[in-house]
Amino acid sequence: MNVGKLLETVNSLVPLNYAFEDDFVGLTVGSEDSKVNGVAVVHELENSILDYSTNNNINTLITYHPPPLKKILKDDGTETFEDDLLTAKCRESGLNIITIHTAQDVCNGGNADSLVDLFGITDTKVFAHTVGKFGAGRYGNIPKTSNSELKEIVESKLNTKIVRTNEYFQEIKEINTIAILPGSGTQFLEEIISKVDVFITGDISHRYLLKGDETHLGLIQVNHLSTEIPGMKKFVENLNKALNQELEYLYKDFYEWAISIKQLNWITRIR
Ligand SMILES: [Fe+2]
Repeated sequence: MNVGKLLETVNSLVPLNYAFEDDFVGLTVGSEDSKVNGVAVVHELENSILDYSTNNNINTLITYHPPPLKKILKDDGTETFEDDLLTAKCRESGLNIITIHTAQDVCNGGNADSLVDLFGITDTKVFAHTVGKFGAGRYGNIPKTSNSELKEIVESKLNTKIVRTNEYFQEIKEINTIAILPGSGTQFLEEIISKVDVFITGDISHRYLLKGDETHLGLIQVNHLSTEIPGMKKFVENLNKALNQELEYLYKDFYEWAISIKQLNWITRIR
């Protein structure tokens, strides 16, 4: 199998053209013509992943987060992007990298839909649109709950204790509607003010916590990765069915209670 064929399979599960326009998805490092020796699905690049890949003849990674880039401001004022150090090391080592990121957030059964299933959201609508009907956020109704109950539900469903709320959330007596967006949803907060009781996402900046207080929107900020892991697990299941493989999915458990990236013997191979 070559990388181009693997890319086709990934694209059949996660249509890459529905990602945000400025997102770095698809074949982000390497060549479609390369033969796939070994493959692993990883949440993101890390030095330990690069070392393992090099030592174990894994030449192809499917990543959720894109390889890091650095922005270069040219003399004429225009911007361009170059590989950050880790990305450059991966490229030099001959790795091929396929990245799915926001295409995986928005696709049918992807990261956002997985959160809908987890929280039992009904009458679901989409926000944070990318292309056409596709978008990274979901909102709708949940069975009536209190603020403290919802916080416990979030901890249990997303397998994390890293949960922070804004001040207004503490005052809410009854919650009937929520919005949820995997990863960092700060920039889409304005879209769902007045539409729901509570917005759940990762990485909410302080200014937006205050914005929620001002506009009477409850905010729950959770560990970033915890909002992306449920959908990624489903992606790996679907990929394994499509490839008839048993690939594992690797991420750093420091950011979630789960398997450890040190247990690197889970990586299996496509030959
Ligand atoms: Fe993310």
